[in-house]
Amino acid sequence: MSAIDDIKNQIDIVDVVSENVNLRRTGKNFIGFCPFHSNTRTPSFVVFPDSGTWRCFGQCSEGGDVFSYVMKRDGCDFQTALEILAKKAGVELTPYTHDETPKEEKKRLYDLMEEAVNYFHNNLTQHPAGKNALTFLTEKRGLKPETIEKFRLGYALASWDALTQHLTAKGYTRQELIDTGVVSEQRDDKGEVIPNGRIYDRFRNRVMIPINDSRGNPIAFGARILDPKDSPKFLNSPQTVLFDKGRTLFALNEARPAIREQDQVVLVEGYMDVIVLHQEGFANTVCPMGTALTDFQAKQLTRQTKHIVLALDGDAAGYHAAVKDIDIIREATAGENPGDSQALLRQENRLNVDIRVVTIPEGLDPDEVVLENPDAWRSIVENAKPIVIHMMETLAKDRDLNDAKTKSEIAAKVMPLIREVSNAIERETYRQQLARFLDIDESLLTYSNMGAAQGNQAKRPFPAKPKLKTSADSLVFDPRDSFFNKENEILRCLYRYYENPGSLAVIDRTLRKFRLEAISPADFNQTALHEIAAVYFRALDQDEELDTREYVEKNMPASVQDVFLSLKNKKADSQSETQELDEEILRSLAFMRQEKCEYDKSEIQTLLEGSEPDSEEIRNFEEMLDKTLERRRRLDILIDTINTLDFKNGK
Ligand code: UTP
Ligand code: MN
Repeated sequence: MSAIDDIKNQIDIVDVVSENVNLRRTGKNFIGFCPFHSNTRTPSFVVFPDSGTWRCFGQCSEGGDVFSYVMKRDGCDFQTALEILAKKAGVELTPYTHDETPKEEKKRLYDLMEEAVNYFHNNLTQHPAGKNALTFLTEKRGLKPETIEKFRLGYALASWDALTQHLTAKGYTRQELIDTGVVSEQRDDKGEVIPNGRIYDRFRNRVMIPINDSRGNPIAFGARILDPKDSPKFLNSPQTVLFDKGRTLFALNEARPAIREQDQVVLVEGYMDVIVLHQEGFANTVCPMGTALTDFQAKQLTRQTKHIVLALDGDAAGYHAAVKDIDIIREATAGENPGDSQALLRQENRLNVDIRVVTIPEGLDPDEVVLENPDAWRSIVENAKPIVIHMMETLAKDRDLNDAKTKSEIAAKVMPLIREVSNAIERETYRQQLARFLDIDESLLTYSNMGAAQGNQAKRPFPAKPKLKTSADSLVFDPRDSFFNKENEILRCLYRYYENPGSLAVIDRTLRKFRLEAISPADFNQTALHEIAAVYFRALDQDEELDTREYVEKNMPASVQDVFLSLKNKKADSQSETQELDEEILRSLAFMRQEKCEYDKSEIQTLLEGSEPDSEEIRNFEEMLDKTLERRRRLDILIDTINTLDFKNGK
């Protein structure tokens, strides 16, 4: 997945637009005054959370995705918009490099990691210096020898160069040691790496926990202290070519069969918890790398199950204060911060998963609970509660629910969360439950007068966007995927087309004949594809007298290089390669435009349903609908013509 996809997944377009436009909900979409043209009478600016797009149906009649929105709003280029949104999404933009680490080099890095795992494991099980660590694991932490074998746990000697020596003797280079993050480089007073300075073992006198990728290859280490005076308690490998902590879940490969079988995954906080739970028969357990569950990780899990249980240490609060990155899972269950539960709920909506939460009894960790009594762990997991209910109970814990002020305080904190729930039945049920829980009349709990100012993220004056798909209709057309694939396919064809660019005129002529607009970058709503298309079309007008492909290669901006590459490398869809490309492009284009019309049509209809009868707004929407239907009609004629042989014969 590219950084662009990552950003789209992490960011809610409604949030971004809300930064400068006052939006209100109409059905599943949001509407407001267009920020790009002056009009304060009819709101014509619509945001479609389902497809992650926006559109002005008024004067501008323009639209696009979240990137084009920021570009237009801030008057910046794509690269800048990418940077702004990457920062917001917490996505790291790695500068584009033409040659990714070649396969052969990467294989050596995997081998190096394998060698390091074996070396540490050997230290733990065979080396006299590993005795202390072994005793810690078996006696203090309750690990059986077969568990130590299964997870290939190890021990790093209290030495600055033991591993370096070992790996160097095996033929690995200094650079390879650095690239896998098993060594640290010497730094100057300012913390800058000294070029060609000394290197030394990163992990010393620690229990070594190998972290595998989803296929089971070691790619990193989590290293726990043995000496309580050392810090940090856990030292993880840095990000490397092999290891991206936001995309890794500890023990996923080992847990996968159990997750599938039980149709549920349990997320805990610590490596040790995962290891002990697996040992005690709860193998559907994984943990993130000391950070919040990223959308990428959640998606990785949703391929196995839609049921995610978050199990959080009761005493995690101490650690929260210590970590800088906002950690939604941990914070959500810290109990006092509805704003973060809100973020979690949005993640649940966005990814269409069922997230439930449990808190482990104060002062205990999952590993301690399960070692003492496996049934206790089982019942804790069975008691996982939906986020809203969990929040309700956490807030009420040790409070006097007969106290009027307490009731009002809890209601004010929970109502904004309930408002985030996208499913209407679920939402109403929670509202009733809260009323019963607080023993107050339901009519007192309204969405409008509750909490807009209370939660720290409640600046958004409307409920969260609806689910993209519900599990029942997961086969339903997802406009985002469908449009994207079609736009992608057309661009792919266009690129091949450049062998004979002159015949693009044939396409345009045909379109004109049917009173349709010429093919242009405007046909590509995904900003990255729009940017690529723009280069394509510029290539036709250039006066550098370069071959069109050469021009395209030379002028493709770095920000879209990865998308462009995947496009070039993509195998053709079913269409035969011999079929005339102009016909193929025209056909795909017509179908894509038709589908977009269809989508617009249903969106405008929803808007119509949500408007005041006989208002200016409704007349506005009716006009849009007419335009869309007219366009749709012309496309129908074009498609009919293509389908009957007329096109081929008569062009
Ligand atoms: P905990 O401090 O709760 O440790 O951190 P733990 O897993 O219960 O370990 P034990 O039981 O004391 O041995 C939970 C997780 O947070 C990350 C690690 O992933 C750890 O497993 N963490 C914690 C760090 O990355 N760095 C730290 O310094 C501490
Ligand atoms: Mn613990």
